[in-house]
Amino acid sequence: MNHKLSPSLLAADFGNLERDIEMVNNSKADWFHVDVMDGVFVPNLSVGTPVIKAIKRLAKKPLDVHLMIIDPDRYIQHFKDLGADILTVHYEACTHLHRTIQHIKELGMKAGVSLNPHTPVSCLEEILSDLDMVLIMSVNPGFGAQKFIPGSLDKIRKLNELKKKHWLSFDIEVDGGVTLDNAQNLIDAGVTVLVAGNTVFASDDPVLMIQKLKTFK
Ligand code: DX5
Ligand code: ZN
Repeated sequence: MNHKLSPSLLAADFGNLERDIEMVNNSKADWFHVDVMDGVFVPNLSVGTPVIKAIKRLAKKPLDVHLMIIDPDRYIQHFKDLGADILTVHYEACTHLHRTIQHIKELGMKAGVSLNPHTPVSCLEEILSDLDMVLIMSVNPGFGAQKFIPGSLDKIRKLNELKKKHWLSFDIEVDGGVTLDNAQNLIDAGVTVLVAGNTVFASDDPVLMIQKLKTFK
C-alpha cells in the first residue's frame, strides 16, 4: 500500500503561510499536519484558532491535527468546527481515552492516539479496534528539527504486529526526525503516514523533497 505524507506546518514560514500551503496543495503530499501545543503538556506554544482557520480556508487537503494539550476533551467540538479531518490526542493526556475517541468519531472526524517515546504500544491493545490512526512520536513532542530516536523503529514494528494479529487497518503515523535516510526503514516497519517538518520546509526544493519522500515503497 502506498504511504501518505503529511508535511508539518510547524516548520513552515509563518510570514509566508499562504505560499507554503499553496506549495503543499500543488505537491504530492496527502495531508497537512497541524501541531497544536499548549505550553503545559509540552514546553512550547504553537498555533491556535485564528491560524488554523486560515489554514483551513487555504488548504485543499485534509487537516491532520495533532493535539499536544492537556484535557483535550474540552476542545474536541472546537477542532471539529475549525475543520479538523483527523484529530489525534495524546494517550498521556487522556484519563478516559475510550470516551474521548468515541466523541471524536461521533462528530465525524477520524480519531488518532499519539504515544510519547516512553509509552509502550501495549497500552493501546484494548482500544486499537476503535482507532483510525496511531501516531508514534519518534522525538519528544514540542519542537521540530530534533533527532529521530532509534528505538522508535522497533516500537513501530511491535505496533504493526498488533495490527496484523487483530486484523486491523488503522494508519500508523510517525512524527519527528523523519528524513530521506530513515523513511524506507520506517515504511518497512509498518508506517503508513510519514510526518515531515524540517525535512520538507528547510529543503531547497520542498516540492521535490515531498516527491522523494513519497517514492519509497
Ligand atoms: C513535534 C511535532 C512534529 C514536528 C516534526 O512535537 O509533533 O510534528 O513538527 O518536525 P520534524 O519533522 O522537523 O522533526
Ligand atoms: Zn506533530
